[in-house]
Amino acid sequence: MSEHFAYPVGLRLSGRRVVVLGAGQVAQRRLPALIAAGADILLISPSATASVEAMAEAGEVRWERRRYRDGDFEGAWYVLITTDDPEANAAASAEAEARRIWCVRSDDAQAASAWTPATGRSEGVTVAVLTGEDPRRSAAVRDAVVEGLRDGTLAAPRHRARGPHVALVGGGPGDPDLITVRGRRLLAEADVVVADRLGPRDLLDELPPHVEVIDAAKIPYGRFMAQEAINNALIEHAKAGKSVVRLKGGDPFVFGRGMEEAEALAAAGIPCTVVPGISSSISVPGAAGIPVTHRGVAHEFTVVSGHVAPDDPSSLVDWAALARLRGTLVLLMAVEKIGAIAATLVAHGRAADTPVAVVQEGTTPGQRRVDATLATVGERAAAEGIRPPAVVVIGDVVALSSRDHG
Ligand SMILES: C[S@@+](CC[C@H](N)C(=O)[O-])C[C@H]1O[C@@H](n2cnc3c(N)ncnc32)[C@H](O)[C@@H]1O
Repeated sequence: MSEHFAYPVGLRLSGRRVVVLGAGQVAQRRLPALIAAGADILLISPSATASVEAMAEAGEVRWERRRYRDGDFEGAWYVLITTDDPEANAAASAEAEARRIWCVRSDDAQAASAWTPATGRSEGVTVAVLTGEDPRRSAAVRDAVVEGLRDGTLAAPRHRARGPHVALVGGGPGDPDLITVRGRRLLAEADVVVADRLGPRDLLDELPPHVEVIDAAKIPYGRFMAQEAINNALIEHAKAGKSVVRLKGGDPFVFGRGMEEAEALAAAGIPCTVVPGISSSISVPGAAGIPVTHRGVAHEFTVVSGHVAPDDPSSLVDWAALARLRGTLVLLMAVEKIGAIAATLVAHGRAADTPVAVVQEGTTPGQRRVDATLATVGERAAAEGIRPPAVVVIGDVVALSSRDHG
């Protein structure tokens, strides 16, 4: 038993000499972690892979282009033997043993005095797995643990108090698989989640029962504006020591009022992390088969809010300038005003037969797409009963994809 059981330990190698014999694939895989640990690395090998050579050129390792010689381990704390010369390996291993230096051998694990675990990192946690003689199993266990930590499916709450904190998390367009790994982990660690109507609602069903889920639309706002009431709710829960996630649709900073929340938190002295999300402005057209750019067709795409009618004095959008662009226009929050917007674009010179697609509830089971032109989209959208949330895509890229996306 004891022959197969290794005692795990974390070596602090910063500034300490580590000698690596051989500069092939194994060395290439091991060196980055040694470099990251700040080791003083001496590499001994007549030749090296291109990647190892690049590390030497960058000054990350000192490379002596020669074979192993007795005495090379003078002053070393740790040794990795990775050459495919059995005699040199055995002699080097004997030198390490005689000098009482822990030594890893890639050719013969049983002859080595140390084993390299399969390692991975996630948010300050190092995972190291040893299974003795089955490196693939070690790697598989490592992958499972690191993946679980990253996406939050392996709950590992932090026990040292972090102080009040809010994460503004972009939840993506709606499909629960389209949140980022970081967003999902923060969600899994949250005590309180303040969520919008848009975004991946399904993820909320997965949260453990102790998590308080607050619907942002239902926060009572009495003497405040709705947004102010949401800001106050975030601040209060964070001050009460809860780990708070503000889950938003798409990306928090694309028509999401994310910056207003970040500013309110900053004013209250509460640290806030912003986690980007996949914006519906690109992903919803993509889910319906429409690329927002295409070589030879569109060299730009412009994302515009259609919330305010073109003739409204409070509008900040220069519709005349947009009408002159050749590229793709992507309109968000435009269902209600689409007829007026299309007419304005045509009045300012965009061709009336420019293809348009309206994609409702993109990336969700309810996704549907209606195709039209600038001349017909107002009528078509109304006749088809298009409802928000929907993204409107205007431009020749729309014609690239087949029109039978339902
Ligand atoms: C207040 S904006 C928020 C945008 C969000 N921050 C983003 O980056 O996607 C809401 C608008 O996004 C669009 N939208 C968001 N999710 C959508 C989806 N799954 N399908 C279609 N449109 C969507 C609609 O135009 C909706 O009116």
